[in-house]
Amino acid sequence: MCFYKFPNDFWWGSASSAAQSEGASLADGKAPTIWDHWFEQQPGRFFDEVGPAQTSTFYENYKSDIQLMKQLGHNSFRTSISWARLIPDGVGAVNPKAVTFYSSMIRELKDAGIEPFICLFHFDMPLVMQEKGGWENREVVDAYVEYAKTCFELFGQDVRYWFTFNEPIVPVEQGYLYDAHYPNVVDFKRAVQVAYNTMIAHAKAVSAYHDSAQNGQIGIVLNLTPSYPRSSHPSDEKAARIADLLFNRSFLDPAVLGQYPHELAQLMADYSVAPQTQPEDKELLRSGKVDMLGVNYYQPRRVKARLNAVNPDGPMLPEWFFEPYEMPGRKMNRYRGWEIYAKGVYDILLNLKNNYGNIPCYISENGMGVEDEERFLVDGQVQDDYRIEFIRDHLIWINKAMSQGANCRGYHLWTFIDCWSWANAYKNRYGFVALDLKTQQRTIKKSGHWIAQIVQEHGFEC
Ligand code: NOJ
Repeated sequence: MCFYKFPNDFWWGSASSAAQSEGASLADGKAPTIWDHWFEQQPGRFFDEVGPAQTSTFYENYKSDIQLMKQLGHNSFRTSISWARLIPDGVGAVNPKAVTFYSSMIRELKDAGIEPFICLFHFDMPLVMQEKGGWENREVVDAYVEYAKTCFELFGQDVRYWFTFNEPIVPVEQGYLYDAHYPNVVDFKRAVQVAYNTMIAHAKAVSAYHDSAQNGQIGIVLNLTPSYPRSSHPSDEKAARIADLLFNRSFLDPAVLGQYPHELAQLMADYSVAPQTQPEDKELLRSGKVDMLGVNYYQPRRVKARLNAVNPDGPMLPEWFFEPYEMPGRKMNRYRGWEIYAKGVYDILLNLKNNYGNIPCYISENGMGVEDEERFLVDGQVQDDYRIEFIRDHLIWINKAMSQGANCRGYHLWTFIDCWSWANAYKNRYGFVALDLKTQQRTIKKSGHWIAQIVQEHGFEC
């Protein structure tokens, strides 16, 4: 018999975001985000035509939801502040109702013994800012930095852990490469500019935080997706390195090392997509290094080379494999179509240890989405043994990495209560707690009770 022991001060909790849980999407002075706008324009792009107004109403029910977190033994909670709620015009006047809400939410968390981990931007661009060009426009970068400073001033007394952005690659890929999110652009060059300006905004916010002489730490949440070649063929191996450069290192390196990998400049030149820069940017990036990192991990990327049909001698295009794809011999999430590869989280943590100065990090998201989860209801409770197995397998690999010196300090499941998931709305359920959208009733799933025991015992038996 053995025991996977986690440190007594390990952070255990779940993660959510403002837009996905708060609701009240146009109430109490909140201005529209791109999500409110896109839903109004094209409801058919959302699963079952369910938009951002239909959530678990955290804005109204945060007090009882926080008590539920406490009941499940959580000692941390990651969520975000809505820029469009706090500063409805994007710049300028602060909305007093938003200040009251976020101050009270943070206070309730602290009073319940739950540490708030607060993110400043979780895909929810205020519409007014998108109308100015979003991250393509450096004016929006500066507006974001002012918004960040306002948050530090208003809430910095109580918040010790800040994140500038959540998964910055996602708005780039989904919004500027694949036509999956607003503004539905498909343009590699513009995507690169968006990615670059996001990291400038990030670096400026980190510097502003450090200059503000606050006591806490600031980082960024990255969905680090290990890129493995689909075969040992040299072209697949090269393609995997390209995928790693584009999707991981173009955020990880500037965030942790304060500079872009030099191979990236060549790649950008090969594709003629180099972004517009300003002379002070290099210094900005150097001074914007994070104190810690949030790591989101769901699945790896299995990369296969695709030769450039236009110019076979030109740069190779990797072919990305997302859902649904099957790879013989790989374990798949039967309820969603994503690969389950728990060792991926170990590979990430060891990479951070060996190549990124073993920066302190937190698993800021990990989780398993399941369609039609009501089919697992027994006597009113979702019997999500598959989720328990998923979390357990990932915790085993996290524990192994920690025993080899990796600096991981917490684990957050995506998510607490089943939440609205962008264009997928409620297609996949992820929570420890089931939500009945019509009645708003919350019911703890089997995994919710299970995690409470793990937290209490600081680990579990093998
Ligand atoms: C990552 C994102 O941060 C979150 O917003 C999303 O809902 C989950 N992945 C699940 O897809």
